[in-house]
Order: sequence, then C-alpha cells, then structure tokens
Amino acid sequence: GVGGLPPRAPSEIEVVAHRGVSAEAPEHTLTAYQQALALGADAVECDVRMTRDGVLVCVHDRRINRTSTGRGVVSALDLAELERHRVVHRRPRGAAIRGRRSRPAVEEDDVEADEDAGRVLTLDRLLDYVTASPGRVRLAIETKHPTRHAGQVEAALLTSLRRFGLLSGGRPLQWSGRPAVRVMSFSPTALRRVRVLAPDLPTVHLVRQVLPRSRSRPVLPDGTAVGPSLALLRQHPGLVTRLHRAGLQVHVWVVNRPRDMQFAVSLGVDAIITDEAASLMHLLGRGG
Ligand code: G3P
Ligand code: CA
Repeated sequence: GVGGLPPRAPSEIEVVAHRGVSAEAPEHTLTAYQQALALGADAVECDVRMTRDGVLVCVHDRRINRTSTGRGVVSALDLAELERHRVVHRRPRGAAIRGRRSRPAVEEDDVEADEDAGRVLTLDRLLDYVTASPGRVRLAIETKHPTRHAGQVEAALLTSLRRFGLLSGGRPLQWSGRPAVRVMSFSPTALRRVRVLAPDLPTVHLVRQVLPRSRSRPVLPDGTAVGPSLALLRQHPGLVTRLHRAGLQVHVWVVNRPRDMQFAVSLGVDAIITDEAASLMHLLGRGG
C-alpha cells in the first residue's frame, strides 16, 4: 500500500552491534565500540542514563553493580563517583557465558597507558569517537526509562547530538543516504518527547512482549520503526509484513545464534541487533 516498505534484502539488512561487540569486550566500553568499527558493523547500540549531576553515560542497568567494581544507582551518583570504579566484563543475568570468565576491561598494566580504558563511557566520549572515526558507523541510542530525570534525558541527548554535528535543527546528519543517528526506547512518552524536539530524527519503539491492543487490533506505534524482541517475532512472524505495510521498519533484538539470525534474515527485517556482530557479518557474507 501507500507508504509500505518492502522486505529488506539480506545485503541491505543493517548489522547493529549491541552495546558494542559485547560478546567480545566489556559492554559499553570504547574497546567494544572500536571492535564494531573494525568489523565494519553498520551501527552500534548504546543505552544511556543520566547521572545525578546531569551527565549522560552509557550504562544499561539502573545500578552499576553488574558492570563495574562499584555499587549504586546511576541517577543517584555524580560522574566523578562513577569514574572511581572500573568497568568489568559481566554478562547480563541468564546470558550465555560460553566459557568466558568475568574480567576487567583492561589489564592492570594498561591503565596508565590509556586512562579512558576501564572508565565509565560518557555519551559525549562515544559521540566524539564515532564522529572522529573515518569508518562511518551509525548510532542507535536507547534512552532508559527516565524516572528521576524524566524529560531531561531527551533534551540532554539532543544537545549532545547537536554539539557533535549529528543533529542540525530537527534533522539528523545523513551518511550514505541514511540518518547517522536514531533514538530507541521502550517508553513511548520518551520517544514522543524526542519527536517534538526533533521531528526528523528517527525513533524506534522497542517492544518486549505483545503490542498493546485497542479492542481487537494491536496499536501501531508512531515513529520510524518498531523494535520487537526475538521472542516476540518468533510468536508473531507475520508482524514484519504487517509493520512494513504500515510503513514501519523492524529492528529485532537481541539475535545471537546463527539459526535465529537466519530466521530474522528470512523475514526481511530492516536491522538485526546482536552481541555477535562478527558472526552476523559472516552470515550475511560481509567484511573480510
Ligand atoms: O536494542 C534493544 C535492546 O537493547 C533492548 O533491551 O535490555 O538490552 O536494553 P536491553
Ligand atoms: Ca539496549
């Protein structure tokens, strides 16, 4: 129909490195993002939260306990306090460890050589790195349900994007004809705020379970794309066609096993978010 999208050809599917190449390096570290660029991934995913003193940092959990040597809630700590702890390699609860032991982001000897390694990554540091790199990797930035800082997270995010030239007026920078940045969230309110402030910035509505229903029909979200979990897509494979017909892209997360990647590819999704970017690149016949 009018405005409908075709299924995406395998060569056009976007490879999105989830939290950097988080199967190989500690998630949300510059090392993990460097690996994504080295592989030639199309995009990197990053979760952002706001510290007590208003700085956006790349941290997934509400607390820093799992991913660092410290403890506490991100939004209740100042950046200086977060920086006192070192980032460590720990997989989310229930995720496959596959023989990898928890290890520090850097060996003790490397700490002096690179002061940034092992330190919590700020969003600005990531944006600085990505925009200064010759390899153009797109950014998929996820705002985590803001409570304490409701409203401030989106405003601060857009300010940072503008500072690094990724957003100008309401328009995102274009790389090879596609927007260099997009914002994802499970919170429709957060995405609505983004669209009010920057109408042309793509938004991805993440969905964990089934889409909300109004009487008999699922409510299709506003925005550019829907991000269903792999489990949701397995339950409702017809969702891809339905969303495409409505003009919405499909960005599925987190797809790590080759047979699940194959499944997503066969459905013609637009983007596959994975911890195992190297394996997905290989499956799609890309890279070296
Ligand atoms: O890319 C979307 C995915 O990251 C959402 O889940 O918990 O990993 O942020 P989570
Ligand atoms: Ca995420």
